[in-house]
Amino acid sequence: MKIHPILFLCFLSALMDPNGSITIHRKKEGTNFKIQWQIKSSESWKFLCRNDCKDGVILINTTENRAENGSYSIEYTTRSSPGGVLQVNIKNLTKSDSGRYRCGVGNSPRDFEVKVIDAQGKEINIHIGDEGGTASVACYFPSDKSTKFFCQGECKGGKILINTTKNETRSDRYSITYAEESVRKRFLLRAIITQLNMSDSGRYTCGLGESLDEASIQEFDICVTDNPSKPGCTLQSDPSTSTSTTHALFLTLVICLPVAVVLVTVVLLSLQRLRETKASRRNKDVTLLAVTYENEIFQHSHSDGQSIDEEAATV
Ligand SMILES: *[C@@H]1O[C@H](CO)[C@@H](O)[C@H](O)[C@H]1NC(C)=O
Ligand SMILES: *[C@@H]1O[C@H](CO)[C@@H](O)[C@H](O)[C@H]1NC(C)=O
Ligand SMILES: *[C@@H]1O[C@H](CO)[C@@H](O)[C@H](O)[C@H]1NC(C)=O
Ligand SMILES: *[C@@H]1O[C@H](CO)[C@@H](O)[C@H](O)[C@H]1NC(C)=O
Ligand SMILES: *[C@@H]1O[C@H](CO)[C@@H](O)[C@H](O)[C@H]1NC(C)=O
Ligand SMILES: *[C@@H]1O[C@H](CO)[C@@H](O)[C@H](O)[C@H]1NC(C)=O
Repeated sequence: MKIHPILFLCFLSALMDPNGSITIHRKKEGTNFKIQWQIKSSESWKFLCRNDCKDGVILINTTENRAENGSYSIEYTTRSSPGGVLQVNIKNLTKSDSGRYRCGVGNSPRDFEVKVIDAQGKEINIHIGDEGGTASVACYFPSDKSTKFFCQGECKGGKILINTTKNETRSDRYSITYAEESVRKRFLLRAIITQLNMSDSGRYTCGLGESLDEASIQEFDICVTDNPSKPGCTLQSDPSTSTSTTHALFLTLVICLPVAVVLVTVVLLSLQRLRETKASRRNKDVTLLAVTYENEIFQHSHSDGQSIDEEAATV
């Protein structure tokens, strides 16, 4: 039974960051930061930690639907059952609030990073991706327009990757999907780049509108890392970004790979033994264990599918 917590952690960390991606939210000093996640869980403990909850500081851990500790607060609103929306607030940001956070309900953790910038800076988020992986960035707009675009750099003078009136388009490694989110009455333009390579790092623009002058636009940065064992991500405008991301990924690989090998071996052995001596009680236990893991994997991948669209849901 010792194997259980490690295994659980491995699958969580693997599923939590599809493609190893995390978003760093650049926010101005003195402003309030809010982020919300849709979480499918019927568990009662809600938490917010600095870094991960083990090595970091537990800021809030509560069974209440609202809790506050200094400038930090969380609010949980139940929607569909089981599950709800977890909102995290950090009031009056100071430079010392910069860093990695983990929040969640029960065993469904979500990670995010905040980088507090000077008041004259630009609040542009950074999306970290792995070389060879995929970056999928959600741009939200308040109103519907038929023309959607996606550019590298600024659209004026930059490179127009996509300019379309369709709701789904692909061009080489670049694609967009567009849809209305009926519950929140907002429009989601998702910009996707596959097979990331180092030269993809930099500024991008997504937008809606027929002419550039009247379009609503959003800018974001993509930062591609090439080596999980070394702190990567060299974005010219901001060289000191995420080191923890790559480190976590490295740990996942180092710890989870052997565990996965052990699990597969255990399952194969147990199946073989089950065939040989069906009556043995011991073997029954081993098989049951494997089935439990499968259920957990399914539940977590399922709940994560719900949250992917929430990654950029700062309000
Ligand atoms: C509130 O946050 C501080 C760190 O800022 C932490 O040391 C303390 O334990 C927290 N208080 C509670 C009640 O969780
Ligand atoms: C919150 O407290 C509960 C009960 O003590 C504990 O089981 C859980 O692990 C704690 N959560 C975190 C994130 O520390
Ligand atoms: C925000 O924090 C700054 C520095 O810590 C402080 O001087 C200021 O009074 C705070 N503002 C509010 C509205 O709490
Ligand atoms: C594209 O999406 C918008 C917003 O959901 C919708 O109003 C429109 O009908 C869609 N167009 C097509 C061709 O599906
Ligand atoms: C990275 O992608 C760019 C843009 O598609 C391409 O021009 C370049 O050759 C690629 N570099 C590598 C090393 O694959
Ligand atoms: C997209 O194409 C239309 C029509 O060709 C053009 O008017 C518009 O400026 C283009 N948008 C961008 C962002 O280049």
